[in-house]
Amino acid sequence: MDTLIHVSNVSKRYDSDGAFAVADVSFDVRVGEAVAIMGPSGSGKSTILNLVAGLDRPTSGTVTVAGQRIDSLGETGLAKFRRRQVGMIFQFFNLLDDLTVADNVMLPAQLAGLPKARARRQADDLLERLKISNHRQAYPARLSGGERQRVAIARALVNSPDILLADEPTGALDTATGEEIGRLLRELNGSGQTMIMVTHNPELAARYANRLITISDGKVAADSGAPSAEGSPVSSAAVRS
Ligand SMILES: Nc1ncnc2c1ncn2[C@@H]1O[C@H](COP(=O)(O)OP(=O)(O)O)[C@@H](O)[C@H]1O
Ligand SMILES: [Mg+2]
Repeated sequence: MDTLIHVSNVSKRYDSDGAFAVADVSFDVRVGEAVAIMGPSGSGKSTILNLVAGLDRPTSGTVTVAGQRIDSLGETGLAKFRRRQVGMIFQFFNLLDDLTVADNVMLPAQLAGLPKARARRQADDLLERLKISNHRQAYPARLSGGERQRVAIARALVNSPDILLADEPTGALDTATGEEIGRLLRELNGSGQTMIMVTHNPELAARYANRLITISDGKVAADSGAPSAEGSPVSSAAVRS
């Protein structure tokens, strides 16, 4: 299978005299994988996700996505990379409160240069697919947490990104809603979407990812490795060990 993401000996410190948030991390992600990243608070999970997203640059090491070295891209190149190749969702959704649902989802497509009519069509299709189109003219404040996360997922997918990155996507949701979002992510992965999800929830990792990477003190402590040919979920035992 094709390697989509190649993270090689990546370290990151935010201050030149500070501690390493991430220290010598290496892993590859193949096209179509659903990877869960788990680890204690402050262990470096969000930093790793942000480095893959091109939101930040490593202090050393290389990050290659779809054949392109993104650690050495300039600001313009990185902005373009983020717009077209990565979709990202967060614990608290990060929707724009003064835009409607439809306008939130259209925005990244318009920023990527799509004509408005096409951006609207793309947004409508995704809202339909994520079963949230009845709220297309609503403002985010009117929606439940689960509905907001569906909108955020639609927005993340509007430019058909190579990778979907999710930073604790169910962290602000109740158990049932979290499971619903987990199932949705699993379905998206089933239709081919490569994804990396940071989660505190072992059940979610076991049921909705097919590989688990455990981070501890900025390092990879365990990596369940390649999924089987069937892409079966990692076992609960593997997640808890
Ligand atoms: N923007 C930042 N500036 C300075 N230190 C940061 C910044 N972001 C994260 N850190 C530090 O880096 C370490 C890893 O943080 P983070 O990647 O957010 O961990 P996690 O997502 O696993 O909770 C922590 O010690 C945190 O305080
Ligand atoms: Mg985090």
